[in-house]
Amino acid sequence: MNLEILSYDSIDSTNDFLKRNWKRLNNLTVCWALTQTKGRGRNARNWFSPEGGLWFSILFKPRKVFSDINLYTKISSVGLCRFFENMNLEAIIKWPNDIYINKKKIAGILTEIVGNESSTAIIVGIGININNDIPSELSNKAISLRQITHRKYKLHRLLKRILGHIIRIYNLRSKQTGVATIVKMWKRRLFPKEGMKIRVLINDKEFVVRVLNILEDHIEVLNEETEKILKVRSGEIIFDSLESLR
Ligand code: BTN
Repeated sequence: MNLEILSYDSIDSTNDFLKRNWKRLNNLTVCWALTQTKGRGRNARNWFSPEGGLWFSILFKPRKVFSDINLYTKISSVGLCRFFENMNLEAIIKWPNDIYINKKKIAGILTEIVGNESSTAIIVGIGININNDIPSELSNKAISLRQITHRKYKLHRLLKRILGHIIRIYNLRSKQTGVATIVKMWKRRLFPKEGMKIRVLINDKEFVVRVLNILEDHIEVLNEETEKILKVRSGEIIFDSLESLR
């Protein structure tokens, strides 16, 4: 599979670069930058992108218009997990698409769609803390690969390995039952899982709830005390509950 990597020392945002240029670029073009001046996270948040981290975006140009954009996020998050698992690290996908190791966020994914009814493209932006320092205000929530393994990495080499993992999962999608396999791989690494009891924080109040249904944009949970069904969003799920309430 031919993958072209466009690399930059500094760029505003690798997602924005692909958004501006997707029409002239091929399927599976990757934009990689050593730093981003306007890195973006989900929910319109800024994404701090200093030197030492891996900041890149992949352009997918599916033949089918209106393809399921969430599938591309799942492909990428499973690919990232496989990369970490290959290093003997257990990575968990915190719903919907944050990658956690040792209960701290190591990578985030921002998927966007561009185009119209006649042609569309999907841009999956991936940010991974590799050699970069984590700002002290985030040190209880985020972690870098260097902090975990006490090694410094060559970013270019790592990028190629990660892309290899992602492309292997991507290639499954065209096989019979391939999409179901990808969803299964994603669910296996997902927190929370259906049926699990978790803690959620809604409007500053903590509840213990049971996960009923994991949907694309929210999770349906049951408050067993009040017997009420609630919708929760990603920021409301407390990750800590993993072992304690299983
Ligand atoms: C999140 O967890 O909020 C998603 C973070 C995504 C960050 C990456 S870094 C490369 C790409 N370019 C961006 O501007 N954002 C994504």
